[in-house]
Amino acid sequence: MQPEFTYEANGITLIHGDALDLLDTVVADAQVNLVFADPPYNIGKKFGGFHDRWESDDAYASWSARWLDLCIKKLAPDGTMYVMASTQAMPFLDLYLRTRLSILSRIVWAYDSSGVQAKKYFGSLYEPILHAVKDPEHYTFNAEAIAVEARTGAVRHLIDYRKPTPTLYNSKKVPGNVWSFPRVRYRMDEYEEHPSQKPEVLLERIVLASSNPGDLVLDPFAGTFTTGAVARRLGRRFIGVEREREYIKIGLRRLGIRKDLDGEALAPPQKTYVRRNGPGGSGNADEMTGDLFGPTK
Ligand SMILES: C[S@@+](CC[C@H](N)C(=O)[O-])C[C@H]1O[C@@H](n2cnc3c(N)ncnc32)[C@H](O)[C@@H]1O
Repeated sequence: MQPEFTYEANGITLIHGDALDLLDTVVADAQVNLVFADPPYNIGKKFGGFHDRWESDDAYASWSARWLDLCIKKLAPDGTMYVMASTQAMPFLDLYLRTRLSILSRIVWAYDSSGVQAKKYFGSLYEPILHAVKDPEHYTFNAEAIAVEARTGAVRHLIDYRKPTPTLYNSKKVPGNVWSFPRVRYRMDEYEEHPSQKPEVLLERIVLASSNPGDLVLDPFAGTFTTGAVARRLGRRFIGVEREREYIKIGLRRLGIRKDLDGEALAPPQKTYVRRNGPGGSGNADEMTGDLFGPTK
């Protein structure tokens, strides 16, 4: 099957079409260093003309197995794959993937929610991410590139007396598997009109940890092309596939490829909000006339 639209230059490739139909023809086998897959979650969201709801968990699991197999086929022998899913769907993907790859980490992306929360059960404030590799003896993991401040004695300059020679606590460490990053909010510069845009800071950690400059990064469900934007900024090559034309337009603009498509100007979201504090304000918090909190899960 042929894509509806392809753009390719300077190591960046954008493909309009269905990843399950196209991946096998548009991506060479065993060449991708890093896959980041953030598929529709089967929770009933609307992605342009596409409704994210399968008829059963089994149907969703079978569909997921198809694209997981394709991505694994494209992954280099020392490649890494990150997979996101809803909390309810992740067990299906985890059980499938662990028979084909080595799962190194089960990551929780935790965020605060200022929106209305569940009143009769514990509302969801995280999304799970699997970190898996083809060969657990050979894979990229750039620990120093993603090191964070250790919140132990290092902050207070404490000395570790358990060592043969007492030394200061290490001040840097590899982050654990609970990652706290805010979701993309309307007011953020990176905000795009999409129901499930992921924050650049999340992708930065993944791309820095699991690829090197010049490596090839694949995102089969590119959405607003967050992975592409981060990969490009960090000097990686990138292939992104997206089914909805509206999101392809976002990708073309966000990756600095085109200012227009078929005569239509590709403009960033026009945000409208009335400032109530600061100079000329009324003293209350900022008031938006758009979606106050951005996309919710
Ligand atoms: C969860 S979103 C990805 C969001 C993305 N990570 C971002 O930061 O913007 C999933 C995307 O997959 C797209 N999609 C759904 N089915 C697809 C398919 N079969 N092939 C390619 N893209 C698909 C949807 O249109 C949606 O934009």
